[in-house]
Amino acid sequence: MKIFLDTANIPSIKTFVDMGVLDGITTNPTLIAKENREFVELVTDILRLVQGPVNLEVVSQESEGMVMEGHDLAALGPSVVVKCPMTGEGLKAVRRLHKDGIKTNVTLVFSPNQALLAAKAGADYVSPFIGRLDDAGHEGMKIIDEILQIYRNYNIDTQVLVASIRHPVHVVEAAKLGAHVATMPPDVLDKMVKHPLTDIGLKRFLDDWQKAGLKLPEGRSTAPKAKPMVQRA
Ligand code: E4P
Repeated sequence: MKIFLDTANIPSIKTFVDMGVLDGITTNPTLIAKENREFVELVTDILRLVQGPVNLEVVSQESEGMVMEGHDLAALGPSVVVKCPMTGEGLKAVRRLHKDGIKTNVTLVFSPNQALLAAKAGADYVSPFIGRLDDAGHEGMKIIDEILQIYRNYNIDTQVLVASIRHPVHVVEAAKLGAHVATMPPDVLDKMVKHPLTDIGLKRFLDDWQKAGLKLPEGRSTAPKAKPMVQRA
């Protein structure tokens, strides 16, 4: 399963790019607004940092406007995926952008039927918002299972991008179901990196190393916290 980060925050993106765990980025107007920066400059910085798909959302309501915006966004870089909302106008825009060779992601999907229609319109990705469904008292992950089953039944190649992820268990569930992509906020990805037993185990290894008075070969750092060579000991 591919891991996308759901943010437009450059330091957060850089952290996970450096770890080599990021396959792409999703943004939405709320996330872009949070960064308080000129839009094109911000997107250019993201595109410079990230190798994989960068999802950017249109803000027009009518399909004509969405298509124009989609072309402008796609011109920013070959990895741009244009996010259109799951409305009739959004589907019209997806159909047009697909014909024009521009990749699309249908966002704000809350039912399997919406996902089926998004695929028929030609979406490359569909984004079911599971956390918001959970918040509303539904079982968000159930629609991921249903959408994947429907897509498999008809060999639909639209990718299921699990969105609105709230915690690491959502990620495990999405992966077990075989979702193509999970997009998550930086705090969730950070929680996936960490485990208390890793910290306890590492501390014990380093304490034992120090207690034994061991030294690294000449020229290497002897600070226990410093470099991977010590951590692997
Ligand atoms: C996905 O593309 C959306 O930006 C995102 O996952 C929405 O998540 P939220 O419900 O936490 O705002």
